[in-house]
Amino acid sequence: MIPVRSRNPDDQPWVEGVLLRLWGGRIIVVHGEAYDAGGLPALVAGDCQGLATFALADDRPYVELITLNALVPRQGIGTAVVEALAAKLAARGIGEIRLTMTNDNIDALRFYQRRGFRIAALRRGAVDEARRIKPSIPVIGNYGIPRHDEIEMVRVSG
Ligand SMILES: CC(C)(COP(=O)(O)OP(=O)(O)OC[C@H]1O[C@@H](n2cnc3c(N)ncnc32)[C@H](O)[C@@H]1OP(=O)(O)O)[C@@H](O)C(=O)NCCC(=O)NCCS
Repeated sequence: MIPVRSRNPDDQPWVEGVLLRLWGGRIIVVHGEAYDAGGLPALVAGDCQGLATFALADDRPYVELITLNALVPRQGIGTAVVEALAAKLAARGIGEIRLTMTNDNIDALRFYQRRGFRIAALRRGAVDEARRIKPSIPVIGNYGIPRHDEIEMVRVSG
């Protein structure tokens, strides 16, 4: 299994570079909320081969995965990060992971369902709304699919 560690201060330039290159910047807008992913806790896989940022709040009994990227696909990096996050949370008594993805992200829909996540909600037009806050969100997404909607995925362990 690929090693996964919590990020440290030295990772900050790399974290910001990944967010800029793959997410158009450090601000991520999901379900109407803007997250500064560059300032969130994060997990780093291998030798900077994968990055996950996540949000925890005292008043929410779950973690929200804000971004996940495997810089080298299909090598087990994404799986290692998800399982490391689940283990880290289990140690704190948190058994639920939530995330929001866009309707065009077919590969992620497959990936997450294969890893025990289920579709919890479909927010029609939510990406169009998010684009008002973050205009750089592309109109056309993966496979040329128009990017309009949010899909919420949830995994409950234990
Ligand atoms: C979605 C994403 C995180 C998946 O990460 P990944 O590292 O490619 O995922 P894994 O390698 O763990 O698993 C993907 C597949 O590769 C397979 N795989 C893993 N290691 C492998 C290897 N050495 N050889 C062949 N296949 C392998 C896995 O078994 C899995 O297939 P399965 O679902 O049939 O079991 C990645 O595609 C990504 O960064 N996407 C862009 C950003 C994104 O959409 N993020 C999610 C929304 S937040």
